[in-house]
Amino acid sequence: MNILVINGPNLNLLGTREPGIYGAETLEGINAGVSTVAATLGVVVDFFQSNHEGAIVDAIHQTCGRYQGLIINPAAYTHTSVAIRDAIAAVGLPTVEVHLSNVYRRESFRHKSLTAPVVLGQIAGFGATGYELALRGLISHLNSMHP
Ligand code: DQA
Repeated sequence: MNILVINGPNLNLLGTREPGIYGAETLEGINAGVSTVAATLGVVVDFFQSNHEGAIVDAIHQTCGRYQGLIINPAAYTHTSVAIRDAIAAVGLPTVEVHLSNVYRRESFRHKSLTAPVVLGQIAGFGATGYELALRGLISHLNSMHP
């Protein structure tokens, strides 16, 4: 089973970016933790990060035929991108949306997710652990569909 993890804009700066909100761990460190969990679950995980909306749309398209599931933190694009929402809906891959912070207890412009209605589920507020929770939830869902 192959899973792609996509991270959106500014998440390449994790570790130094507003650590009080997003934690002190780097994206590299988070990805290493996800890979460790993936190995214990017997799945292969690849990672992609971009600050560009179109590049994220392209990466979502390229999941077709290669990946069985998608984990995505669209970052600021969560709240603005019809294109990313449409790409997720177009490929139809089981997708989990992750946010490090609890976006619902922050500014009101973060309360609206354009992607939430087209994903399997959303995890917000658990920091880096959210990616691991997303992976476990996604694998459990995929296993229940193809026992
Ligand atoms: C974020 C929340 C977004 O509102 C913000 O723009 C981000 C990160 C999170 O992981 O908490 O860049 O997606």
